Amino acid sequence: MSEKINLKLKVWRQNRGEAGRFEDYEANGIDTDASFLEMLDVVNEEITLGGGEPIAFEHDCREGICGCCGSLVNGKTHGSHERTTLCQLHMRHFKDGETVVIEPFRATAFPVIKDLIVDRSGLDQIIAEGGYVSVKTGNAPEASTTPIKKEMAEASMDAAQCIGCGACVAACPNGAAMLFTAAKVSQYALLPQGHPERTQRVLGMVNKMDELGFGNCSNEYECAVACPKGIDVKNIARLNREFVKASLTSEK
Ligand code: FES
Repeated sequence: MSEKINLKLKVWRQNRGEAGRFEDYEANGIDTDASFLEMLDVVNEEITLGGGEPIAFEHDCREGICGCCGSLVNGKTHGSHERTTLCQLHMRHFKDGETVVIEPFRATAFPVIKDLIVDRSGLDQIIAEGGYVSVKTGNAPEASTTPIKKEMAEASMDAAQCIGCGACVAACPNGAAMLFTAAKVSQYALLPQGHPERTQRVLGMVNKMDELGFGNCSNEYECAVACPKGIDVKNIARLNREFVKASLTSEK
């Protein structure tokens, strides 16, 4: 049964290019069945009615599938509930009277746009380097003409679950986008359909990742813990293998 709780919030407020600061708010009468973003909606309504500027935060689907939402809640990406996006985090996981600290994802490659919104377009630029496959137009081919082992298909689908929220980057002490890039490279490398661009994809994505200021992996595994979709770090090992192979075989 749902209950009502009251919370004290410390929210990071910042305009692009300016210094940020924490501001205190109260979230009163919050339904424990509400999501974290719905709680922020309630707080924003209060702020707006009082003539203030609402807290800027990003969201879209509110179903855990688009990857738009994400903030540090008490220092954890998407909050401390396992495999949950911020939009799917429910207020029943908070205690009445608790103080909740809310900050934007922190990473060199994710500059703050406003309040809790960061610029994650670097991830889009990595995708643009090879997040596609060559396909011929026309009728769909007969499925059994390209046999794919079940375990390969499943591993590819597991990697394809990445929603690009950037929690892995924010959780990594190096601000690395290795888990994200590894998931994108793996989902294609594991299937024959991804092989025509296999070499240029991994080289392009890794080079773009470095160029944009994302850090490198030092095996902290924080990314895998933070990932709301449970992307496995084994994908990073596959990314490294793909990169070495592509570096040795590509024509310079
Ligand atoms: S709003 Fe789409 S994943 Fe949270």
